[in-house]
Amino acid sequence: MDKLIVEGGVPLTGSIEVSGSKNAALPILFASILLTEPVTINNVPDLRDIRTTIALLLLLGCDCGYENRKVRISPNALHPKAPYDLVRTMRASVLCLGPLLVRIGQARVALPGGCSIGARPVDQHLKGFEQMGAHFELEEGYIIGRCRKLRGAHITFDLPTVGGTENLLMAAVLADGETVLENAAREPEIVELANFLMSCGAHIDGHGTSCIRITGVNSLHGTEFTVMPDRIEAATFLAAAGITHGELLLRNCPFAELEAVTLKLQEMGMEITATADGVLAKCARPLHGVDITTQPYPGFPTDMQAQIMSMMCLAEGASIVQESIFENRFMHVLELMRLGAQIKISGRTAMVRGVKRLTGAPVMASDLRASAGLVLAGLAARGTTAVRRIYHLDRGYEHIENKLNTVGARIRREKE
Ligand code: UD1
Repeated sequence: MDKLIVEGGVPLTGSIEVSGSKNAALPILFASILLTEPVTINNVPDLRDIRTTIALLLLLGCDCGYENRKVRISPNALHPKAPYDLVRTMRASVLCLGPLLVRIGQARVALPGGCSIGARPVDQHLKGFEQMGAHFELEEGYIIGRCRKLRGAHITFDLPTVGGTENLLMAAVLADGETVLENAAREPEIVELANFLMSCGAHIDGHGTSCIRITGVNSLHGTEFTVMPDRIEAATFLAAAGITHGELLLRNCPFAELEAVTLKLQEMGMEITATADGVLAKCARPLHGVDITTQPYPGFPTDMQAQIMSMMCLAEGASIVQESIFENRFMHVLELMRLGAQIKISGRTAMVRGVKRLTGAPVMASDLRASAGLVLAGLAARGTTAVRRIYHLDRGYEHIENKLNTVGARIRREKE
């Protein structure tokens, strides 16, 4: 197991290229199960979750190759089983359910189980597929789904779910007739998935709104598609500029999709401007506290909650964080307190009182974004912070220490 040793206290300056979006690439890779012709997907980040997905696609019968951030996938005879060993390391594996059901009328997908940020059920996915004509049983920890031909349905989600919307969208493009998804999630990654599917011949309308209409087609053809840049990686680098009082230019930064984040960072005292070369972020003044509530897009993303909390720890005054998406997403708080942060948790609310300085210490990463928050805190802390269990970080950030070191950070990877 690797850990990152972060020597803090250096303002970051220079430019960083934002990688392709993990959360857009994953559903697009699963959507390739729907195609009857080869597909090429560009700008796919080199991450553990991507390699897990490719391993799963190979097991499901697709021919896949990954080189230079390009994935080539050719259809083949499909197998219905997504085994627990892969699904437990990456919950997004459940996204093969919709494509398998609509392509081969059966799927055998391990039930993902809990994770460190909460229960994360898949009831909304299953309810939607049942409305389209699928039946499910639970056998030895596997969801066994069967159907004849899925048919279009009018589905209203109880809550906007990103994965649920993606799974149903993928099934609906090849189902019989029209499907309407109401109270759908509106995340940019869903728009990206719809754009990919439409480039293969799917009929979709309303993606990016809470009502998506899909008219099923008989088959989808091949395409070449380039994945959008990663808005959460970009936002994490904006926070890195802020917490170190540096100046970073982010190239290939999805500025329009980051509005909720940039507004809060500006409220904290950062200057963030879109220029012809990229997004320029600097922080010349002391940070001050703000309040945030995590919400579905276009609200403040839960995937940036840990990172902005690290900034709040060093901001003047008090900040309040309400986590409204996941019930257990404050695992980073006790670790931040080991660095000297003053935070109190009450249910889904964290109250942060800014301190003058953080001091380096060994800390433990609990999930992907929490790890990023701890690296940011380490960059600003006095002395050395060792962030352990960074396999979480490697799931979602492409060579983060190399990228940060090119702009002045002092981070090295060591074996435990
Ligand atoms: C996706 C993102 C993740 C992000 C999250 C919220 C990917 C690969 N992951 O996760 O990074 O943090 O969106 O923006 O894109 N829920 C149910 N029943 C369901 C499905 C979800 O109750 O059937 C609940 C969840 O427990 C959670 C909320 O709905 O409280 C939102 O979850 P969802 O949007 O589905 O998140 P993911 O797709 O798992």
